[in-house]
This record gives sequence, structure tokens and C-alpha cells, in this order.
Amino acid sequence: MSLPKPRPGVMSVAPYVGGLHSVDGVEDVIVLASNETPLGPSPNAIKAYQSAAHALHRYPDGHATELRSVLGRQFGCDKDRIVCGAGSDEVIQLLIRAYSGPGDEVLYSRHGFSIYRIFATGVGATAVAAPEKVLTADVDALLSKVTERTRLVFLANPNNPTGSYLPTEELQRLRDGLPEHVLLVIDAAYAEYVNRNDYTAGIEMVDRHANVVMTRTFSKIYGLAALRLGWAYCPAAVADVLNRLRGPFNINEPAQLAGVAALEDTKHVQESQAHNAKWLPWLTTTLGGMGLTAHPSVGNFVLAQFPDAHKADAAYTFLLSRGIITRKLGSYDLPDCLRITVGLEREMRALADALGEHLERS
Ligand SMILES: Cc1ncc(COP(=O)(O)O)c(C=O)c1O
Repeated sequence: MSLPKPRPGVMSVAPYVGGLHSVDGVEDVIVLASNETPLGPSPNAIKAYQSAAHALHRYPDGHATELRSVLGRQFGCDKDRIVCGAGSDEVIQLLIRAYSGPGDEVLYSRHGFSIYRIFATGVGATAVAAPEKVLTADVDALLSKVTERTRLVFLANPNNPTGSYLPTEELQRLRDGLPEHVLLVIDAAYAEYVNRNDYTAGIEMVDRHANVVMTRTFSKIYGLAALRLGWAYCPAAVADVLNRLRGPFNINEPAQLAGVAALEDTKHVQESQAHNAKWLPWLTTTLGGMGLTAHPSVGNFVLAQFPDAHKADAAYTFLLSRGIITRKLGSYDLPDCLRITVGLEREMRALADALGEHLERS
């Protein structure tokens, strides 16, 4: 009997491992596992979301016109070259589907965000990992892995789960070293959290080069992860390609309305930035003070390295027993690490108390 068979590559995909949001038997959990903002979305975004309730029988604007206009104005981008997606995951998947397939290579850095590998494998392309230097993307290593089969290079900047970033000059050196037909995708999901003078999210690079795309998300600082909203800023030809491939109504109306309201509430974004600017260093220093290696991060999370995988597992399990959810990173080949998101003050203190207690005991 011949059964329906998926395309080559699909069954090689190891499904994405997400963070937990609940613990059996614990009512009041502390979720530090998915790099969500602890401050939630702007109250105006919640109101805008609710306002969509009266028209749920209508299709949304298939071009996300207002949302793209506000994005264009706020970020100094050409709105006609913005393509929105159901999360930046969707635009990343569209890029991979559009530009690669069996026989092609998709390049990323070894501890880069795992979705690149997952989507590339799913379309039958080969995901190629370049080595890193101290958990940071290495431009020379990436360039040395480029072959005539390479179609796309993905760089999360800053990177999840390591928290490291490439400065502007290095990013430009990466782009300049690539053949013109290779598309460089700068995934700037955490750009709003970065406060470094030598950092760029990549907008001006998209404006300058026909082979650079930048992706962004509303899931992090804007606090709209549940609504699934992201966007790509593209060269005109790439925007045209993505618009042919995407679903005609891929952004639902509540997400479009909430997205606009979230962008316009710049005060809320600033408050979230200020919260992170205070608690990211606190978390890093506190973890370091406990004898762990807290890798320097410019995002809203810290990669905490334990002496070995067994100790990381034990800490994860202990924290879970206290209702504190962190992220295990075995799927990133970092089994001796946990990733911990910056939370509210009381959550950070609860984490520090519980982890301190556990490390003292063990
Ligand atoms: C680097 C990076 N890119 C993209 C995403 C996907 O975000 P979303 O699909 O929610 O926009 C994430 C989510 O964790 C991320 O860490």
C-alpha cells in the first residue's frame, strides 16, 4: 500500500522545542523561558485588540496598510518594502521557501536561533552551521562556509539564545564578503533592547543593498507574542517575492490594530527598555556572583552556564519545583546552559533566592 508521503526533508525536521508556560500543581508560576516582556503590552494595544471584537466576521486588510504606514514612519522605512507576517517566524519561513530548496544551502551560526535550521530542513535545503568564537557569530567562519549552493545567510543580531551581537562594522563586513546572489537576513528580534553605539538593526543596510533583509517582531518588547505579528524590511524585489508567496490575509485584524497602538505608545516601550536596562545587568551580576558563567547579553535574557549538563539539569528541575520556568538548551547543543529571561523585580529576586538555595545545597 502506498501512503501519502511528505516532501523530502520534512521528516528530518526535529520539531521546535518551546518554553513551558505552566507547571503541574503550581498555580502561580514565574515564566522566564520565552523572552517575553514581563511588563506586558501597552494598555492601548489591549484596547485596540478588544475593539476588533465587533467585526470578527470581516476579513482583515490583506495589505496591513495602516500598520505598514506607521512602521514606515516610525522606523524611516519605505512602507512599500515592508512585508508583515504572523510572527517573524512566518517571514523567515517565507524567505526560506522563496529562496531555497533541495540542493541549496542555508547558512547560520552554530548557536544561532534554531528556527532557521528547522525551516531550511523542512524545504529540503541543507542547513549549514558555521563555528562561533566565544558564543558569538564569527564573520570569517561564516564567509568560509559559503559555497555556490548557498542561498541565504541568517544572523540573529542580537542572537537568541546567546545574547551576543555583531557590531555594525562586522555586519557590513559579512554582507560585503557575500556573493551578490546570497541573501543576508538580519533577524533583529531584540533590537529594541540593545543600547550599544556600535549596533544597527540593519535598516540602512537594506536601503543600500539588494541582498539584505531585516526581520523584526512584536513578540518581544511590544508584548504581543500571542497575536503573532512580525515584519520584514526588504529590497523591492524581495518584497514582491514574499507578497506573492504569503497568505492573502496572513495578519489578523486584532493583530494589525494592536500592532499600531503598540507602536504609537512609545512611552510604554521606553519603560520596558528602562526596566531591562536595570534588571539585565542585575541578573548577569547575580548569576556571576553565584559562580555561574553569565554570558554578556544585549537582549532581554541571559545565558547562564553551569559546570556541566548534569548541574544545569538539576538547577532547572529545582527551579521548576519552585514554579520558576527557565529554558533548557539541549536542542542548541548547549546542555550545560539555561537561558533566563529578565522578569519583574519580584520574579528576579525569587529566581535569585531559589537558585542560590539550590547551589548552596548541591
Ligand atoms: C532571534 C529570534 N528571531 C525570531 C523569533 C520569532 O519571533 P516571532 O515569530 O514571535 O516574531 C524569536 C523568538 O524567540 C527569536 O528569538
